Parts: sequence; C-alpha cells; structure tokens
Amino acid sequence: MKSSRIKGFYKLSVEERLNKVAEFSGLSEEEKNLIYNTSSLSIDVADRMIENVIGTFELPFGIATNFLIDGRDYLIPMVIEEPSVVAAASNSARMARVKGGFTTSYSGSTMIGQIQVTKLQNPYAAKFEIYSHKDEIIEKANEQDPVLIELGGGCKDVKARVIETTRGQMLIVHLIVDVKDAMGANAVNTMCEAVAPLIERITKGRVYLRIISNLATYRLARAKAVFDKEAIGGEEVVDGILEAYAFAKADPFRCATHNKGIMNGIDAVVIATGNDFRAIEAGAHAYAAINGYKPLTTYEKNEDGDLVGTIELPMAVGIVGGATTVNPLSKIALKILGIKTAEELARIIAAVGLAQNFAALRALATEGIQRGHMELHARNIAMMVGAVGDEIDKVVEVLVREKKVRMDRAKEVLEEIRS
Ligand code: MEV
Repeated sequence: MKSSRIKGFYKLSVEERLNKVAEFSGLSEEEKNLIYNTSSLSIDVADRMIENVIGTFELPFGIATNFLIDGRDYLIPMVIEEPSVVAAASNSARMARVKGGFTTSYSGSTMIGQIQVTKLQNPYAAKFEIYSHKDEIIEKANEQDPVLIELGGGCKDVKARVIETTRGQMLIVHLIVDVKDAMGANAVNTMCEAVAPLIERITKGRVYLRIISNLATYRLARAKAVFDKEAIGGEEVVDGILEAYAFAKADPFRCATHNKGIMNGIDAVVIATGNDFRAIEAGAHAYAAINGYKPLTTYEKNEDGDLVGTIELPMAVGIVGGATTVNPLSKIALKILGIKTAEELARIIAAVGLAQNFAALRALATEGIQRGHMELHARNIAMMVGAVGDEIDKVVEVLVREKKVRMDRAKEVLEEIRS
C-alpha cells in the first residue's frame, strides 16, 4: 500500500520531492518535466514562497484593453483560466468610454485587526478600560513597524465592542491600522499579537484570537460608469439589464452568480498582481451579505435613458510585500498598469469588476452567454483532442456550426480532417 505519510518531505530538495510524488502517482518523465521546468518564476523562488514545492503552475496571462479610468488609459493584466472574461471586460470598457469611462473613489488603506478577549467578569467595564488605555495600545502597536510609521501609516485608532456568543459575552477589540501600500495582513497580525498581553493586563481577560479581518469596511473601492443607451444596444438592453439587476437584488440564487461574474474580473487582476484573491473573495462576499446578501453593483437609468452602474466593495490589495514583490510576473503586471500606489490598484480593480458585471448582464439580457462562450470553449475542446495549428480552427468551425461543442464530435472531426 502506498502511504502519503512521508516523513521529512519538507526537508527534501525540490527534485527529491518530485521524485517521491512521481513514484507515488506514477508520473512519467515528461509529466515531471512539465511541473519542474518553470519559466518566469524560478524554482528557487517558488520553493521559498510556499512549502513542499515540486514545481510551478501556469495560467493564461491576458490583457483587457480600452479602460479609461479617472481620465487615464490603462491596459489591464488579467490572469484567469476562463474563456471570454478578458474579451468581455474589454468590450464593456469600450462601451463605457463613450460617456467618459469609469470614475472611482477609495476610502483609504485602513484595515481592521481583531483581538478576542474572553473570560471577562465585567465585559462592559473592560470595554471602558480599553478606551481609557487607547493611546498606550496604539503606541505598543506602532512600535512593531517603524517603516510603516515613517510612511505615515500605522495604528490610528482602537475600538471595542461586546458581542454575545454561544460561549457567553466576549470583548472584541479592533485595531484600526493604515497599511499604506501593503495588503496589510502581516503588519496588522504582528500588531495584534504584540498588543495582546497589554490588552490582557488592561481587561484582566484571556485573549485567544489575534488576526486581521477580511471584512475591510474601511478600505472600500468604488467605481461608476455611465453606459450610453445607443452604444450598448438601445432602450431594450438598458431595461433588460435593469431587470437582471432587480432579479439579483431579490434572489440570493441569482445574486451569487451575479457577484461571481464580478469576481471573474476582480480575481483575474488580483492574481495577476500577486495579491491574495481569497482575502478579496472573503471580503467581497461578507460585504455583500452585511445587510442580507445583495449584489455588489447597482444599476439605474438616468434622465437621458442611459444606464448608470456603480460598484462598492472592500479592496485590500497591496503593491509591496508578499507575492507582489517576489513573483517577477506580478511586478511586470504592475508595470503594465503603470501604477504607483495600492490605492490606484484598488480603484482600477473596482472598475474592472463593474465592467465584468455589465458585460455579463448585457449578454444575459440579450443573446445569452453561450454564443460568445461557444467558440472559445470549442477551441479548448479542439486542443484537448489533440488538434494543432490550422486543425484547431477547422475543428472549431465545425463544432460551432453544428452547435455540438463536445469531445466525441471533436475527435471525429479531427480524424476526418486528418484523413
Ligand atoms: C460566468 O463565469 C459568469 C456569469 O455567470 C455571471 C452572471 O451570470 O452574471 C456569466
């Protein structure tokens, strides 16, 4: 019997680990090479980024065009496996340009760190004591990160509230931290851990969790675009999108998919720039659910009959630290964007989220999304059955014409072409 209990796996070299995996899973030399032969992200860097590395994993890197945001043109790097996303974003951005593109705003790079205080005799008295010792707590937090303080960031405020839980009342202390151009998890978590003993002394309680909150309500990015009625296909399309929006607002089953479409665009830029897409996902969905699950975008018709779209969501992205700094491709993605601050990145990502959602709703409210998807899907299928070069286009043409985008038919068509 093969066992996954491999002692000291982490101590092995990358090659040794790969050989163990190959042995376990019967990988061929060719398959081993595909994992091991990295391109931009060197094996050494990858090996230092996470644990038990055996290689790297690639995804397509595309560019969405046409984005005009706050009066400036941007090319948007997007890393994603799903067809149509990049084309859809570019298409929306082209339509948004007619009425001036996207305008955006940002509430600041402020994150929340949470400290959970339990076993309190008098939670409200403990809360009072936290506010009385606020300056001391801030000072302790700010000792942890002199560089951040020098840049004008750091812990700016402390808040506390008593919550009811299944294990009784708890006091939750929030550190309010300006993390500037970082995503902020490292800085905030370090501060939370550093102030915990002080908070125990002040409250006479027992601290357990000390961790950032991904519900970054002080770090909101917003974007707005006016979509010209004629440019998007007329009044019927405007009304169709408003119907789609009303559906999402009223029905969580639809709303989940509506928000998923937004995240198609957002995650693609977040990944391209080396940011933590799980943090962004968690923040987005928690924010969407804060008063009952709702769409992250809104749509209205203005006096000219044009469609006005907005988006608002937490956007904890950084341009320093983490994979953003380590992965050379993330650095290139930032260079393509031509940005200098995390704020600019957050604003751009909000605009992309709105563009992505608009594209999905427009397609859904009109011809449906399958037609656009079909060709790209057929292309993937053609390649999966082994078509190369010109064969790919030939197979795609037949599959789309016959509306049979399936592996079995693709195989038959490829055989016909080759014979
Ligand atoms: C597919 O990845 C995303 C959509 O389903 C989004 C939506 O339905 O709004 C098209």
